[in-house]
Amino acid sequence: MIFYFSSTGNSKHVAKVLSEATGEKMVSITECVRKMHYDFKLKKGERIGFVYPVYCWGLPSVVEEFVKYASIEKYGKHYTYSVATCGAATGQADSNLAKLLSKKGIPMHASFAVKMVDNYTVVFNVKNTEKNEKINAEAEEKIQNIAFLVNNRTGGYHNKLRGVWPVSNAVHVAYSLSRKTAPFKVSQDCIGCGICEKNCPAKAISMDFGKPVWTEKNCALCLGCLHNCPVNAITYGPTTKRNGQYHYNEKQ
Ligand SMILES: Cc1cc2nc3c(=O)[nH]c(=O)nc-3n(C[C@H](O)[C@H](O)[C@H](O)COP(=O)(O)O)c2cc1C
Ligand code: SF4
Ligand code: SF4
Repeated sequence: MIFYFSSTGNSKHVAKVLSEATGEKMVSITECVRKMHYDFKLKKGERIGFVYPVYCWGLPSVVEEFVKYASIEKYGKHYTYSVATCGAATGQADSNLAKLLSKKGIPMHASFAVKMVDNYTVVFNVKNTEKNEKINAEAEEKIQNIAFLVNNRTGGYHNKLRGVWPVSNAVHVAYSLSRKTAPFKVSQDCIGCGICEKNCPAKAISMDFGKPVWTEKNCALCLGCLHNCPVNAITYGPTTKRNGQYHYNEKQ
C-alpha cells in the first residue's frame, strides 16, 4: 500500500512509479482525510510506503494528522519506506515520520528523498516551464532508482537532501505559525467550478453563491487550491500571482 499526499502532482507521480514497480495500490491521503477513512488492512508481507512533500523542513499537517489517526492492521512482516519530494532540502521530515510510525509499532526500514519543482510560490517563481521540465527530468532517474530499491526491499537511510538538520524543527515551527487562510483572495476571474472546494485536504473552503470562501482560520497551506484553479483566480499574498501556477506534467 502506498499512502501519498500531493497538491501539485510531484509526490503523486512518485507514488505512481512506485505502484507500477511494486504492483501495490496507491491510497490518496487527501481522499482518506476528506472521507474520514482511517482503517486499513495490509496483505501478507505487503510494503508500506509513504510519499509526501516536505513543508518547512517537516511533514505537511495533513500527513502528520493522518498518521496519528490511521489504524493499519498488519499481517506478516512488512517493509516500510518513505519518499519525500522537495524543492531543495527535507530537514527532519523523514525522521519525524519514522518517529510517528514507530509509536504505532511500525518500524521504518528505508528513507528516500528527491528534488523536484518547488511549488511554494509565496517565494519561488515557477513560470519557466523549460526549467521545471529540466528539474523533473533530472528527478526521474532518481525516482526510477528509488522504485528499484523499494521493489527489492532495500533498507537504509538514502536521503542526501537533509540540509542543516539541527535547525529543522525550528524551521517547522514557522509552518505551524503561518498556516493562516486570511491571505487567500479570489478574483473576478473565478468561474465557480468548485475544484478548490472539492480537493481541499483541510476542508477549509466552502462555496458561497458560486465563489469560494475560506471558512477555517488555518489550513495545510498546500497551495493546491491556488495551483489547480483552472483560471488562476486564487492568490495568497502579493507574490503568488507573479510567481505562477505549477502542476507536474505526466507527459514529461
Ligand atoms: C507550505 C510549503 C512549504 C514547503 N517547504 C519546503 C521545504 O522546507 N523544503 C523544500 O525543499 N521544499 C519545500 N516546499 C516545496 C515542496 O515540498 C515541493 O514542491 C514538493 O515536491 C511538492 O509536492 P507535491 O507536488 O506532491 O505537492 C514547500 C512547499 C509548500 C507548499
Ligand atoms: S477553482 Fe478557481 S474557478 Fe474554480 S471555484 Fe475555485 S477559485 Fe473559482
Ligand atoms: S485552503 Fe488551499 S492551501 Fe489550504 S489546505 Fe485547502 S487547498 Fe490547501
